[in-house]
Amino acid sequence: MPNNKDVAMLILAAGQGTRLKSSLAKVLHAAGGRPLVEHVVRSCAGVGAKKTIVVVGHQAEKVKPVVEPLKVEIVLQQPQNGTGHALLVSKRAIGNAKYVVVLPGDAPLIRTETLKALIRKHKNGQAAATLLTAVLADPSGYGRILRKGSDAVQAIIEESQLQAEQRELNEINASMYCFTAAKLWPALARVRPDNKHREIYLTDAIMAMNAAGETVLAEVAQDSREMLGCNTRADLAGVDHTFREWKRAALMRDGVTIQLPETVLIDPDVIAGEDTLIEPGVQLLGKTRIGARCVVKTGSVVHDSILGDEVVVEPYCVISQSRLDSDVLVGPFARMRMESHLKRGSRIGNFVELKKSVVGEGTKAMHLTYLGDAKIGSKTNIGAGTITCNYDGFYKHLTAIGNKVFIGSDSALVAPVKIGNGAYVGAGSTITENVPADSLAIARGRQVNKLGWAAKKRRELAAAEKSGKKDKKRR
Ligand code: UD1
Ligand code: MG
Repeated sequence: MPNNKDVAMLILAAGQGTRLKSSLAKVLHAAGGRPLVEHVVRSCAGVGAKKTIVVVGHQAEKVKPVVEPLKVEIVLQQPQNGTGHALLVSKRAIGNAKYVVVLPGDAPLIRTETLKALIRKHKNGQAAATLLTAVLADPSGYGRILRKGSDAVQAIIEESQLQAEQRELNEINASMYCFTAAKLWPALARVRPDNKHREIYLTDAIMAMNAAGETVLAEVAQDSREMLGCNTRADLAGVDHTFREWKRAALMRDGVTIQLPETVLIDPDVIAGEDTLIEPGVQLLGKTRIGARCVVKTGSVVHDSILGDEVVVEPYCVISQSRLDSDVLVGPFARMRMESHLKRGSRIGNFVELKKSVVGEGTKAMHLTYLGDAKIGSKTNIGAGTITCNYDGFYKHLTAIGNKVFIGSDSALVAPVKIGNGAYVGAGSTITENVPADSLAIARGRQVNKLGWAAKKRRELAAAEKSGKKDKKRR
């Protein structure tokens, strides 16, 4: 196992990204469920290098907190005078590392294995620099590789500098390089900001190395998608597409069935167990963890939630920050949020909303119900249209419902209130006082039957109609 402790990884993340037309720095735009630069840092982490350095500048105060928790060293480049200048300001941080791998912060699909291969090739080739390149059908927007011979590079030519005959060149500079530090610094020292933007281009260092008789090698990446940078919104969409495809493929390898996979959106940290089935149009987001043999049906969105085994999420449910134990059924059209917890075997039906509520084992709330700040025991039945009135206009209050309770349909439980074990609440009740265990509470207007009232009413109406017609004839 070759050791990479002589390598410093350097990620360039100081630029603005004008082509995105955004108030947010380019490297903070998300694709595949993470900011671009975070993907790059994570790929570097697996290389086993001496350190990873991130060069920040534009919106440094926003970029720093994203990368700092990932154990990187930060270098501030202020102002941002080009990719070559970014390296010059990082010289001290790079220190005595023998090799420097440079990566753009806006090309997030790069994989650890590809970086390791680049370092290996560079060390074996004993070059001053080794580049990763891609051959693209549409190379526009990138610097192009001018080769000399089959293996070596003569220069990188920025798009704006291309001569007419060079427009055919379709091998692009991905801005991913491995340098031998001792050869890099003298070459960079010879680069002048001779361009429209008055910037020091790292690409010019390649030309300088050639002029000094040094070897520059390039390797075409096996999967050109890894080389793609994000300069435009369309680039972001394309890169996001690839990430999502890779994530779905990884879950399928783990034994998850995904129907019409291209319609399913899954964030990178999501996991799911064997024989779980994901139907079309589902989104699994954040840190969601799904067990084995679950079914998540069409149109459902699950965010930062934990599902046990054999959970069924019927179509069009929205579940966030919640826990569903094994053998639970929710939906269709259910909503769960803010630390709600469904215990084993419980069931939540259509148009039921749960907020910060715990539903005990085997308990059911099947229709048109709001349960907020409620703690419900096991084997309880919550009738259709039950509402916990948890908010008094100032504060939220708790509703406690025991085991084997029966709440009749269309009941309003005005919190704070407790319903004891085994109690019954009559349908249509407005419960404002605690209900003792095993008792029946009815809190609604008493019913009065007026015998014969309707028949009498009809007779009166018929008589009035008859005399009205007579009056009309007379007139
Ligand atoms: C650069 C390359 C181009 C290559 C392309 C690949 C140069 C001069 N050109 O062009 O050959 O095909 O990347 O995507 O290098 N950055 C800094 N400090 C700066 C300027 C830029 O940190 O002063 C960072 C940016 O944040 C970005 C990366 O360097 O992450 C590349 O900069 P960008 O402006 O995207 O360069 P390109 O024009 O794409
Ligand atoms: Mg770029």
